[in-house]
Amino acid sequence: MGEVANKQVLLRGFITASPRETDLEFRVGRAELGVPDGSKAVLVKNLYLSCDPYMRGRMREYYNSYIPPFQPGSVLEGFGLAKVVASENPHFRPGDLVSGMTGWEEYSLILKTEQLRKVQVDEKIPLSYHLGLLGMPGFTAYAGFYEVCSPKKGEFVFVSAASGAVGQLVGQLAKLHGCYVVGSAGSQQKVDILKNKLGFDDAFNYKEEVDLVAALKRYFPQGIDIYFDNVGGAMLDAVLLNMRVGGRVAVCGVISQHGISDPEGLHNLSSLLFKRIRMQGFLQSDYLHLFPQFLDCIVEYYKQGKIIYIEDMTEGLESAPAALVGLFSGRNVGKQVVCVSRE
Ligand SMILES: NC(=O)c1ccc[n+]([C@@H]2O[C@H](COP(=O)([O-])OP(=O)(O)OC[C@H]3O[C@@H](n4cnc5c(N)ncnc54)[C@H](OP(=O)(O)O)[C@@H]3O)[C@@H](O)[C@H]2O)c1
Repeated sequence: MGEVANKQVLLRGFITASPRETDLEFRVGRAELGVPDGSKAVLVKNLYLSCDPYMRGRMREYYNSYIPPFQPGSVLEGFGLAKVVASENPHFRPGDLVSGMTGWEEYSLILKTEQLRKVQVDEKIPLSYHLGLLGMPGFTAYAGFYEVCSPKKGEFVFVSAASGAVGQLVGQLAKLHGCYVVGSAGSQQKVDILKNKLGFDDAFNYKEEVDLVAALKRYFPQGIDIYFDNVGGAMLDAVLLNMRVGGRVAVCGVISQHGISDPEGLHNLSSLLFKRIRMQGFLQSDYLHLFPQFLDCIVEYYKQGKIIYIEDMTEGLESAPAALVGLFSGRNVGKQVVCVSRE
């Protein structure tokens, strides 16, 4: 099929601080529009790419994580939604839509096809939702809320980074479960979305609170049963003082600590003992056996109009570096996706 120009985003070098656009390089390379004979690989055209906070972890030189670092000078990898252009794999045919790990470029040759999932087109569901609501972040919300938080009807639930890819679904699932839900977010616009669009009972801008312990006491005078923690740091410490006896803390993410070389310590861990709190970290990948039931449940809720999903979509691969970096200053409003091409 020949060679074509291939826009790409690469990591320049390992970083130690918060990511900046200049840590990434945009260039126009070349792609061979074919698949090596007998390789079982597929060549895809990337349509949508997902910006996810864990990608920051892959930008540092650290080999003891659950996922290896990116290589400096190489194209970034991430979750994407793509169309198969050529295939040497009997499970995939040209024209199939797939989601899974792909490159931050227009065309990617994917060798590890076992991690690709065929996507069924449903005209009622935007394709890009397979990176958010029906993708890894949505699944994180589902597995974290139902499996780690052990929710009960009527419980008091707090969610941080509540308007983001994961948080917005956690809050809506908690409401559907009959819980009282408060979210925190970093701007008035996001607070309004939480209260007026996503159905949270209440929400506040944590950046405007000088005393997080007092703020949480105001929103939860009776205490918190479940904390779905997307941020770690000072907010987690303040939550611990506001938990109820028998409460659960699901440690999903620590985005407040990502740009810090010397992470903040916690002072209030004794609450775990006094209040018999279960605090548990989790990775969505530990629960992948639940993915089919997650899809059935969330698609049903979405089609019934019981949940909505807010995306922040930028246009063109050129916009990808700024979109990724923006996660760490809260520039995204909803799930951050990059549209590389619509077809
Ligand atoms: N455990 C797992 O398997 C798993 C899977 C997916 C994601 N995660 C984690 O879940 C969390 C949310 O991910 P997401 O994809 O839904 O991202 P997201 O919420 O869509 O985007 C990140 C948000 O984090 C907030 N943020 C950035 N810097 C912050 C800081 N210093 N302090 C407090 N908040 C800050 C910003 O919102 P504000 O404007 O509200 O500050 C930003 O919009 C992340 O920590 C991520 O690493 C974990």
